[in-house]
Parts: sequence; C-alpha cells; structure tokens
Amino acid sequence: SVDKQQQEPPKPKQRNLIDNASNLLTNFLSGGSLGNMPVAEGAVTDLFGKPLFFSLYDWFIEMNARPILSSSSYIIHGSVYKLAFGPKSFVVVSDPIVARHILRENAFCYDKGVLAEILKPIMGKGLIPADLDTWKQRRKVITPGFHALFIEAMVRIFTKCSERTISKLEELTESEGQVIVDLEAEFSNLALDIIGLGVFNFDFDSVTKECPVIKAVYGTLFEAEHRSTFYIPYWNLPFTKWIVPRQRKFHSDLKVINDCLDNLIKNAKETRQEDDVEKLQQRDYSSLKDVSLLRFLVDMRGADVDDRQLRDDLMTMLIAGHETTAAVLTWSVFLLAQSPTKMRKAQAEVDSVLSNGAITVDTLKKLEYIKLIILEALRLYPQPALLIRRSLRPDKLPGGYNGAKEGYEIPVGTDIFVSIYNLHRSPYFWDRPNEFEPERFSVPKKDENIEGWSGFNPNRSPGAMYPNEIIADFAFLPFGGGPRKCVGDQFALLESTVALAMLLRKFDVELRGSPDEVEMVTGATIHTKNGLWCRLRKRRT
Ligand code: HEM
Repeated sequence: SVDKQQQEPPKPKQRNLIDNASNLLTNFLSGGSLGNMPVAEGAVTDLFGKPLFFSLYDWFIEMNARPILSSSSYIIHGSVYKLAFGPKSFVVVSDPIVARHILRENAFCYDKGVLAEILKPIMGKGLIPADLDTWKQRRKVITPGFHALFIEAMVRIFTKCSERTISKLEELTESEGQVIVDLEAEFSNLALDIIGLGVFNFDFDSVTKECPVIKAVYGTLFEAEHRSTFYIPYWNLPFTKWIVPRQRKFHSDLKVINDCLDNLIKNAKETRQEDDVEKLQQRDYSSLKDVSLLRFLVDMRGADVDDRQLRDDLMTMLIAGHETTAAVLTWSVFLLAQSPTKMRKAQAEVDSVLSNGAITVDTLKKLEYIKLIILEALRLYPQPALLIRRSLRPDKLPGGYNGAKEGYEIPVGTDIFVSIYNLHRSPYFWDRPNEFEPERFSVPKKDENIEGWSGFNPNRSPGAMYPNEIIADFAFLPFGGGPRKCVGDQFALLESTVALAMLLRKFDVELRGSPDEVEMVTGATIHTKNGLWCRLRKRRT
C-alpha cells in the first residue's frame, strides 16, 4: 500500500467566517502592489498547524480549478499567485518557465531575502546568505573543489562511514535477528560524520559517540530551523543574546563549533602546500591523509582568504550538506518500505552489483535503480520544499505555462517562494504526481516511441543519464537551478546511493507503524515529527 500522504494531496479546507474576514483584511492591508496578480483566498489560520508548503499546494490546486478568461485565453491562476498576510505579501511560483526566469535567466535580480536574514548570524558570508560580490568570489573558488578525484575519494569516505552505521545496526540485531530503530536519527548521524570528514577532515564519529561539538551542531541546526519557521526576527533585537535562554544557548553552541573550525583552519594553514588549481585537482588522492575541501581551499594558490570567510564557508557546507542528505535517505526508505516489490527490485540490483567487493564510482554507476529511487524521493519530498528570493530591482515575469502571454510586474523588494514541492507534484507536468514511481525517470530505450515529449516533461528524458533541471526544463529542481544551484549535488547523490545500497544489502526494512503516523514537519528541510521508526531484519544472503 502506498501512503495516503502521497495518494491524496492535502484537501482544501472549509473556510469559516473568521477565516474569510481575516482574509479580506489581510488582502486589504497588503495594498495594491503586484497589481493584477491573483490573490490566494487563504487565511492566516491556514498557515498554522501544518507545514507551509502544504497550504501553498492547496492554493495552487484550488486556484487552478477556477481558470479565468483573459482577452484571448484561459489563464490558470495558481501558477503565480500572491499570498498576503498582515501587511506582508509573498508571491508563490509553481510554473517552470517563471521559475527558470527567477533562478537562471534573471538570477542576479534576486537575493535570498528572508532566508539570508535568518542564516547570516550562523553562516556569515557563506555561499547561501552571502552578498553578491562575496558569493561570486567564493563560488568561483569552491566549485573546483568538487572535482572528479575529490568525489572519488569521497566515495571511500561514504563507504567507510556507512560501514560504521551498518556495523552498529548489525550489533543491535545480533541477539534477535531484528531491531526497531529510528532510521532518521541514524541517517542524521551518518550524514554528519560524512560532511565532517569530507568538508574539513573532522571525524565527529557521531554514529558511536556523543561529544560537545556534536551537541552544539544539533543545537545550532535546531535553532536555524526554529528561526526559519518564526516570522519575526526577534533574535536581532538588542540584548536577546544575553537575556533569552535559547539565544544564550545558541551563542554558546556557535562558539563551540567556531572554536573547533578555527582550530581545523589553523592546522590546515600550518600544513599548507600551495599549488595551482589544476595541479591540486590531479593530486594522488589515494595516498593523501586529508582529502577534505578545506585542504583544497587552503592549498589553492591565489585564493588566500581570511579565516573568518573560510569558517563561514565550512559552516555553510556543514549545514547545507547535512540535513538535506539525511532527509533524502529518510524519505527514500519511507517510500520503499511501503512498496515491497520495489524494495525487492532494489535489493536484487544491490546484490548483483555489489557482490564482488569494493564500492567505487564505477560500481555506483551500475546502481541505476537506487539512483532513481533517490531522485523520486527528492521529487516527492524536495529538500528544501521552497526556494526563497527577494527582488533587488523591479522585474517582469514571463507569462509561463499558465496561458497568459504577459507575466506580472514585480516591484523591488518583493518576497518570492519558488515552490519546488508544487512543481514536483504538479498535475500539469507529471503523470500520477503523488505516486512513488522511480521508473518514471528511466531513460527510454532506443526504439521506444518518444513522440509527444514536450521538452519539459521529465517522464520523457531521451538521451540523458539522469534527469536534472536542464532536461526537465525547470519542472524538476532537486538541487535548484541557475548560478545558485547546489554545489554539492554529485556529492549528495553518490553519498545517498552508497548509504541506501549498503543498508538494503544487509537488511529488510519495514515501517514500525502505519505510514500515516509518520507526520511531516519542516524547517529548512522536510523531516518527520517523531522519527522514522523501522523494524530491521538481518537478510539471509
Ligand atoms: C544550494 C539542495 C546537498 C552545499 C542548494 C540548493 C538546493 C540544494 C535546492 C539551492 C538553494 C537555492 O537556490 O536557494 C540540496 C539537496 C542535497 C544537498 C537536496 C542533498 C540531497 C548538499 C551538500 C553540500 C551542499 C552535500 C555540500 C557538501 C550547498 C551550497 C549551496 C547549496 C553551498 C549554496 C550554493 C550557492 O548559493 O551558490 N542545495 N543540497 N548541498 N547546497 Fe545543496
């Protein structure tokens, strides 16, 4: 059985008198900016009690059910709409052409707006919240760090860390042949260990022990998440740092991590071996003790940078690469555990590909089905569900697939949510959008009829190994798109493939309760409310 959350998208809720009155009031307060853009007939109360992206999906579907007739054609309302609450309004985008415009074609007309406000105290001038000038410099330096030999070395780290997790789980199943565990927590520890080693050569070893740095990392992530769901940035008020207990804790956690990072940076600088980028990219990674990104960034000739910037870069990578990967693994297992046939198909692939030993980049290429599972999990549970932007200058959006020839005017300072969740579950671009079908991404065979491929329908992606935002023409954005696209996409895909394959090789996985009990909550990523509790049974292979 497939869970209800996927088969039935959240139903539009009945509105009561108070909702309608508050809606009228908020729309009135939001004033006439954004001109003729359709307004979501939502209410402030819709925003509470469930993840925001659910409400945005409700409105998207609800508004599309009421197309309006313009001078020449029907316009589907919901693909770009305004959501107003209080004196504030947001534009919600669920159209690939409009998303492409904002993320790629006119990307530098936008910054990260409210997201940068939330993250700056944690990530400083790291890639995600950085101002444009800093971002341009740092992106140019960081991107080459993810070169082929680095990724190859990372595969060894993914394997080593996953082995640690699997050994721990094997020990737990030893006496009874099975155990119930919270796999979300296990994946979180695993992803933390991997990002620590890969980005700054620090072994958290969180799978087997607890230490103050780990506690501080989780404390900081928790605070980042709290801030992302809190609409008023109270932490910017003077003195909260000393008065509000959770702010005091946050600042002490931050200090623990910063001290640890400062030490690692100091060590890396003391052992610096300066070289040109090309030479660094050809180092013998198999003999290096420290293969981390930090090593690369410190050794790169001509990329000298102060310690503060390096620390911001590392902190950004730690946060951006940890929860996202843990979440994709969690939802992949959640989906697979409800589809025994797909689970068996995945295990058969793993058994045949990994039967003779070591995992390498080449063997990973053969784990086709595992990769499709991960991509399909990212389609259904995108991490993050919404991309946040704010216009730095006035802009004009294109008409998009919504039937309108002309798009809307965007005044300076407009806050925008590009809803990846809506794009990925849009009934206009996906067959059976709420169902888990990794096979939808299979590359058509040579003789398969691909007539009707519309260029953006990811169900049809001729010639491409794996779908991405280019092939899907921005209807599928697992790692964003345009210049701010994820720098760690290959790292994350290979990491998830290794971890999932190694788990399935050793265990049969079942959900402990019903899928409905696994509720979702969101901050930066979509995760479960109370963990992903599963029964693991040792496989007889
Ligand atoms: C940006 C997703 C793993 C580092 C992004 C963005 C998305 C994303 C959607 C674009 C955000 C935007 O446009 O606002 C994911 C997912 C991951 C993952 C789903 C795992 C499955 C990683 C890893 C790293 C990383 C492993 C680092 C090792 C970053 C950084 C940015 C970013 C630094 C900002 C890029 C920039 O603004 O130039 N990620 N990510 N991510 N990601 Fe990832």
